[in-house]
Amino acid sequence: AVPVIAIDGPSASGKGTVAARVAAALGWHYLDSGALYRLTALAAQRAGVAWDDEAGVAALAATLDVDFTETAIRLAGEDVGDAIRQETISVGASRVAALPAVRDALLFRQRAFRRAPGLVGDGRDMGSVVFPDATTKVFLTASVEVRAERRYKQLIEKGIAANIQPLLQDLRERDERDSQRAVAPLRQNEDARLLDTTEMTIQQAVNQVLTWSGK
Ligand code: C5P
Repeated sequence: AVPVIAIDGPSASGKGTVAARVAAALGWHYLDSGALYRLTALAAQRAGVAWDDEAGVAALAATLDVDFTETAIRLAGEDVGDAIRQETISVGASRVAALPAVRDALLFRQRAFRRAPGLVGDGRDMGSVVFPDATTKVFLTASVEVRAERRYKQLIEKGIAANIQPLLQDLRERDERDSQRAVAPLRQNEDARLLDTTEMTIQQAVNQVLTWSGK
């Protein structure tokens, strides 16, 4: 089977950056599964389908016209890389992600990313549901304060005005919703290694994952 490194963890933990760098270091494919939930939320918003309309959103998820390249994420040909990172879409993504039919519709699309020579996937359920046979499973986290700070710096670097307090509040609410939901709740799997990056640099985290993967 094509090897998979599964990196799961909470919002703003840095798992996306770490996963993308591990994939680049190995020359493997990369799956940003959160982007699929974000694209689904955006597509629903644009189609006028409510985020809690399970059948309606699942139908959209099954037929999403998406294209991931090195530099862009496209929905029906339009680059929506920035649009899907907006706060309203973050909320929408975590709402549609709570619907079992939506998760089901995205399952096979995610598995299609598993191609030789290997895949690094990041999300909430990479190691538990999507790739239960992953070769390396990591639960990557950091304290909520450090995650809010990282998100804050990211926004400031992009020239977007931000405040720590609302970011902290939002992360706490999203953690709560992602860990309390009935399907694929956010938690560390028994067979996943814990990588607490609170006091680590990105490069240290990348090196740890590479060491665990035996590469
Ligand atoms: O990782 P990211 O913050 O982009 O994910 C957006 C939302 O999508 C999360 O809040 C979570 O609810 C959902 N998600 C999920 N399962 C995944 C990836 C993301 O439920 N594998």
